[in-house]
Parts: sequence; structure tokens; C-alpha cells
Amino acid sequence: MCALQSQNLLTKQLATLFPQDFIWGTATAAYQVEGAIHEDGRGPSIWDTFSATPGKTFQGDTGEIADDHYHRVADDVALMSRLGLDAYRFSISWSRIYPQGQGEMNEQGLAFYERLVDTLLEHNIKPFVTLYHWDLPQALEDKGGWTNRETAYAFADYAETVARRLGDRVAGWITLNEPWCAAYLGYGNGVHAPGVKDRQSAIQAAHHLLLAHGLAVPRVRAASKPGTQVGITLNFQPLYPADDRAETLRDLAIADEFSNRWFADPLFLGRYPEHYFEHMALHAPTVQEHDMEIISTPIDLLGVNCYSRSVIRGLPEVPLADATAHVVPVPSACYTEMAWEVYPNAIRDLLLRLHNDYHPQQLYVTENGAAFKDEWDGGDAVHDPRRVAFYQGYIAASAEALQAGVPLKGYFAWSLMDNFEWAEGYSKRFGMIYVDYQSQRRILKDSALWYAELLAAFHSQA
Ligand code: FCB
Repeated sequence: MCALQSQNLLTKQLATLFPQDFIWGTATAAYQVEGAIHEDGRGPSIWDTFSATPGKTFQGDTGEIADDHYHRVADDVALMSRLGLDAYRFSISWSRIYPQGQGEMNEQGLAFYERLVDTLLEHNIKPFVTLYHWDLPQALEDKGGWTNRETAYAFADYAETVARRLGDRVAGWITLNEPWCAAYLGYGNGVHAPGVKDRQSAIQAAHHLLLAHGLAVPRVRAASKPGTQVGITLNFQPLYPADDRAETLRDLAIADEFSNRWFADPLFLGRYPEHYFEHMALHAPTVQEHDMEIISTPIDLLGVNCYSRSVIRGLPEVPLADATAHVVPVPSACYTEMAWEVYPNAIRDLLLRLHNDYHPQQLYVTENGAAFKDEWDGGDAVHDPRRVAFYQGYIAASAEALQAGVPLKGYFAWSLMDNFEWAEGYSKRFGMIYVDYQSQRRILKDSALWYAELLAAFHSQA
């Protein structure tokens, strides 16, 4: 049993560590919460196909109904308002807008997101919109998906269509969520849709994802009101050495290229890490002239998703490309239901490192949170003290980064409510709000009440 405990830190004190214009929110993604997969002209996505394939997700779970958020938007936004959120990060389902990925546009899809944005604004909640959170239209996958360069151009067209409609009301755009996962889990080890297991394909998919981002940035910016922030969200895994042996430091550096630099270097430095593809024992992707300039188009914000860390030990006998084989468990540590170590300082160290290495204009924590086994007895409460402790620790550590000079502008908890956790189906609960999937009843967990208390303390300082 994990000994993670709420700290004695006063919520009011924690609130004072953040500047007045700091933005507090929660995050979700379309396929994880919406349901209504056959409604209003939506076309199928790779996640519909993948989750309907036996053996791909926990107990065959799919996003067919999920949180039924599509039909419950008004109530869900009312809950956000009750928590006192400044912002809500959600994603748009590409195949609701273009059922075939390109070509004919589906007005009803845009109308749904327009309604969501307007409802948020009525409640004074700023919309932060992710344009791609892994649910590629199946029609594009049928033509090669992200391994096909054409997908990058189709994405930029779709992104502009959405920006033209919503760009007068959205506060921030995130082109892609965690392209590392879309490329590696989707095409490399096949744990996520579309389930391709070919590491070389992942390298090319990654390049096209980066290109898609770079092509979309100026078009989204041009279609949005002045001052709208445009950027990307990456997942990072801060790494720490298990010892100071030379081979540990060498393997750690290579694991860092794989886990952290593969996407950040091209975006901010305009190149892939030197020798990266050699280290992975793979070929470099096909790169056309100007691609790296397009990919490194300046952005306004870097979204940072951080949950955990890994401790790495050098292993001469294991191929360097196998980064996970080098991870060692930490016996004294607490782990979440995802088997991710709870290590709050990871977020501080990561934010400082990103600031120092890449100098993004603004950083946002766009995801941070934890899955624990929550128990609901049918009443009005769900007690999740470990999740409260998790948030206290990570938010306090984020404040340390801020005080050390990192231009951190906002924090989004993952997630607003329990939802479809990809290959893990409904077996992992990340929400601040408990969802009873039978009745679709929502119950505020203690972590939601704690977050509301933090936000109330923060807003009362004005
Ligand atoms: C991130 C994803 C998000 C959610 C969390 C737990 O990698 O962006 O959709 O699944 O992990």
C-alpha cells in the first residue's frame, strides 16, 4: 500500500505562489469522453477500429459511449464552473469535421464544438483546443495514416477549417497532443491505434506529425484573433541516473533522446538529435527540403504533459534502442495504478530543463494527474486522498519552477472526469470527478473539492 499522504501545506499558502494571471484548468480528449460515435455525421477514427478489434483494449472496452459527454456538455460545463476553472482543454474529433479526413466538411461536427465553446464562454471558462488527440480518421489510415506525407497536408487543411470557425473565441490552440505516443505507440510497438508494430514506420510517422504541426501553425494563427496562442503539447519522461557509472550516463543520454528530445529538438532547434537514428538502430526518416524549417516555425506555447519519471541504469548487454529495459524500480516509492512512480520534483526539474534548453516563450502544464483505485459506495462522495496528495506535491513543485524563473502560465489537471484510458479502457480512473458508467452519474471526488478550494483561494487574492 502506498504511503502517499496529503501534506500539511495550507491550500491558501499554495495559492499565493502563483501570479494573478495564472490559468487553472482541467483537460480531456474527444475519444476519451464524447461517445456518440455514430452521431451527426461523424466518420470512423482509428480508435473505433482499434478498440473494436479483439485483444487490443482492456476487456474490449471502446469509446462508443464513454462519458456520453457529447450529450451532456451543458451539465459538464456547469460542473467545471462549480470547480471554479479558468480554462478547459478539450480536443476536437477530426472525423466529426471531415468524416473522410478531407474533402466534404460536416457542418454538424463544427456546430457541436461551437456549442461547447460558447457554453464555456458563458461560464467564463477559456477554451484551450487540441486539434489532434490521436483519433485519426480511419479513411486516412486506409491510405497509410501518418506514414503517408499527405496526412500532414490534410491535417493543416482541417486545422484551418476549425480555426476559421472558432478562432475568434479560442484562447489557445494545441496542434497535436503527444506526437511521441501517436508515432511510437501507434506505429512502433502497436499498443495504440492503429496498432502497427514497425519501429521504422514510427520514425517516418513522427516526421509527418511534426510536419503537420509546422504546416498548421501559421494557418491556425492567421485564422484566429490577434494574440491567440498557438503551440503543441509533448509528453516528457524526466530521467535520473541510478548510479554514476559511465555506461549509465551514456544509456541515460540515449534514453533521453528517445523519450524527450526526439520531438523537442526538431521543434525548437530545427534538427533531430545527432546520431539519434543510429542509436535506435534505425534509418533517418525521409525529409524533404525545408521540412525542418517548417517544423521549427516559432510557437507561442509549449504544452508539457508530465506524470512520472524513470530511473535509468546502464546495461551493456541490452541493445541501446531498448530504452525501457534500462528502467529500474524505486523500492521506497509510491506508484499509481499505471505503475508510474509518484515523484513531484520531476515536474520542477523538467520545467527548468525545458526553459534552459529550449526557451519556449510560455509553458503550460497541459496534463498532470494520477490513476488510483477509487471506490464509490453509491453516495455523494469519493475519497481519494492519494490523488489529493499527488496534486499537492506536483503543484507545489510547479510553483518552485515558476519561482526559479520559468514562464509557466497555466496548469491543467488530467482529467476533469474518469474516462476511456486508451488501451487500458475504463480500468484506470484519472478523473477529479468520478463517473459511474452505468448511470453516467458524476460524483465530485475529494480531489475535485480540493482543487475547487485551491482555485477559490487563488481567485480571492485579487
Ligand atoms: C496521456 C494522454 C491522455 C491520458 C493520459 C493519462 O498520455 O495524453 O489522453 O491518457 O496520458
